[in-house]
Amino acid sequence: MSNDPKEPLLLDHNYDGIQELDNNLPRWWVWLFYITIIYAAVYLVYFHVTHTGNLSAAEYDQEMKVGNEIKAAAMGKFESSIPTLTPSTNAVVLDSGRQTYAKFCAPCHRADGGGLVGPNLTDSYWIHGSNFTDNVTVIWNGVPAKGMITWKKVLKPDEICSVASYIYTLRGAKLATPGKPPENQTPVNNGPSQFE
Ligand code: HEC
Repeated sequence: MSNDPKEPLLLDHNYDGIQELDNNLPRWWVWLFYITIIYAAVYLVYFHVTHTGNLSAAEYDQEMKVGNEIKAAAMGKFESSIPTLTPSTNAVVLDSGRQTYAKFCAPCHRADGGGLVGPNLTDSYWIHGSNFTDNVTVIWNGVPAKGMITWKKVLKPDEICSVASYIYTLRGAKLATPGKPPENQTPVNNGPSQFE
């Protein structure tokens, strides 16, 4: 404190001409400070003593659990709707199916559907059934033992529907290069196009 009676708040030091007043802290600041202390105490008890509140990691797990349940329910719903599905002829749906096909399926089934590692999708020979819903089921579940991926883990149900609708349009396509020969199946003419 200063000894100067005119400036009782002036502190007794002077650094290069800079002096300091010993003002009281504003009330609002002091209250804010008390509130943070109370908040910290409540926080500590709530999260770390009684464990009433979930910490971020537990909150994340909880939300993931709820999310996974919603996802499983949606997947189950789609799965049970497969027998009722029909191929879409909507140009937007087919175009998105074409893009999915080019990205994910062409490496094994060839860009034109003629077949490479995977079977020919343009002929009338089917390993897992010739109906549209058979195709959707194979795409959804895959045939992991034979190298066909389980796409339900990668693609959403509507993407699977659109890619299945797209490959449906490849049936009977006239290929520039001959497609992969069939693997001993009986031919089933069950596509939108003609198989002469
Ligand atoms: C890693 C290679 C691979 C990829 C990628 C792949 N497939 Fe296949 N696919 C196969 C093989 C191999 C089979 C044959 C399975 C069997 O012999 O049972 C098959 C079978 C199929 C069948 C059934 C054919 C039939 O004769 O019944 C359909 C439909 C099909 N795939 C669609 C798709 C679609 C759509 C995609 C892209 C989302 C795709 N596949 C991606 C390898 C692949």
